[in-house]
Amino acid sequence: SRENLEQRVREVKERMGSRLYLPGHHYQKDEVIQFADNRGDSLKLAQLSADNHQAEAIVFCGVHFMAETADILTKPEQKVYLPDMRAGCSMADMANIDQTEKAWQKLMDLFDDTIMPLTYVNSTAAIKAFVGKNDGATVTSSNAARMVSWAFTQKERILFLPDQHLGRNTAYNLGIPLEQMAVWDPIMNELIYEGNMEDIKVILWKGHCSVHENFTVQNVHQLREKSPEMKIIVHPECRREVVKLSDDAGSTNHIIHTITNAPAGSSWAIGTEMNLVNRIIQEHPDKHIISLNPNMCPCLTMNRIDLPHLAWCLESIEKGEPHNVIKVEAKIAQDAKKALDRMLERA
Ligand code: 13P
Ligand code: SF4
Repeated sequence: SRENLEQRVREVKERMGSRLYLPGHHYQKDEVIQFADNRGDSLKLAQLSADNHQAEAIVFCGVHFMAETADILTKPEQKVYLPDMRAGCSMADMANIDQTEKAWQKLMDLFDDTIMPLTYVNSTAAIKAFVGKNDGATVTSSNAARMVSWAFTQKERILFLPDQHLGRNTAYNLGIPLEQMAVWDPIMNELIYEGNMEDIKVILWKGHCSVHENFTVQNVHQLREKSPEMKIIVHPECRREVVKLSDDAGSTNHIIHTITNAPAGSSWAIGTEMNLVNRIIQEHPDKHIISLNPNMCPCLTMNRIDLPHLAWCLESIEKGEPHNVIKVEAKIAQDAKKALDRMLERA
């Protein structure tokens, strides 16, 4: 039963104390996030992992790339676990290292040494290592603007992996016109662009988040017609047209902060993952809050971390027979850390 599983998790947590650390991403289910020692967006969770020198076991309640990042940023004797190995990220899967190396070769032929690679943290450790080796950095949705601005102090153009939407939204807000943005198609291994090559400032990897793509221009129009008083706030993983028509856009932390500080009685439609939207609704009964897409949009891989997997994972660690260790190969970890450190220094 749920009570029994909750009791088992509580008991392991009590017995292990500070030897165990449980970071949880805002998109996790309530049944899991209730046990998190800290909740956060990707940036905060990366920083907290880097700062934790005490825990022997870090059980990451989030997706695979987040657990990899935690492993890269912690000491070798600290072990990182993911309660369900199937908790991947469809966006991270849209850029593999072979495609990236092929792309880089072609881009170097086209633009010589004028490009800085940047990758959203929602990417595999191998992609982060590639970026680290090539003088680039990682970004998250809360520091993307700062990191893209920095990149332009170093190089004339950027390659932004793997989320075209975060890349486009960020560059656009920094004043780069859409006409100066090209798209890299990793399947065709080619650049999609109609203008003059020299004008290209930003090359957007053709990847996206399958959850945030579900928020559409039609959703916005329908809402504006039905409830014109409602403010719309979305995650920048939503496509450009949706962000443009919204009142605000930002990371999960930004969304939470904005709604928390909004006046009682205000009305909000939120364009992000369902578990977080439902939690915000519950925590703010004094405000009228709905999902921008009335069908609600779950992240299926985030949801793979559930109470049974959490209890099983914790007990296996305590018994000394752990499963689901996330261990990034040393060479990859070393290069990926360069990309992460360049971000954390500026965060
Ligand atoms: P943030 O929490 O950094 O906004 O990231 C959103 C996300 O999609 C994580 O997978
Ligand atoms: Fe990946 Fe999107 Fe799920 Fe985040 S919400 S883990 S980007 S699929």
